[in-house]
Amino acid sequence: MKIPLFDLLKKEHQEIQRMFESMSKGNEKVRVSALHKFQKQFIAHLKAEEASFYPKLEDEPETKMLALEAYEEHHVAEILFNELKTLNINDAEWSAKLTVLKEIVEHHVNEEETEVFKVAEKIFKEDDFSDMYKEFQGKEDIWIKKAI
Ligand SMILES: [Fe+2]
Ligand SMILES: [Fe+2]
Repeated sequence: MKIPLFDLLKKEHQEIQRMFESMSKGNEKVRVSALHKFQKQFIAHLKAEEASFYPKLEDEPETKMLALEAYEEHHVAEILFNELKTLNINDAEWSAKLTVLKEIVEHHVNEEETEVFKVAEKIFKEDDFSDMYKEFQGKEDIWIKKAI
C-alpha cells in the first residue's frame, strides 16, 4: 500500500537529521539559523503527529502502548529542546544537550519507521491514512505559523 503520510513523515525525519548536522557543525551563524529552523519544524512535526496519527493508534489495543511510548519520547525531546534554548550556543553544555537530544530523536525516529509504521499499516486502511495525512498537514501548518 502506498502511504503518502509515511512518505511525508520519513522526508521530514531526514530534514530533522540534516538540521541536527547543521546545528552541530560550522560557524555560529549557520548553527543559529539551523536552530531557528529546527524550532519551527521539529515542534510542528511532533505536534502534528500527536494530533493526527497517534490518537488513532491509541484507540487500538495492538498499538496503544506504542502510541503512549511515542508521546513520552516526544515529551522528553521537547523538554530537552526547551532547555537547549536557554543555553548559550557556544557553551560545552549546549553541545552535550544537543548530542543527547539527537540520540533520543534518532531512537524515536527509528522506532517509528521500523515498528510503528509497519504495525499501523496492518491495522488501518488507505482511507484512514488519507484522513490522517490531511489532518497532519493542517495541524502542521498551524504549528509552523504559530512559531513565526
Ligand atoms: Fe514522532
Ligand atoms: Fe516522526
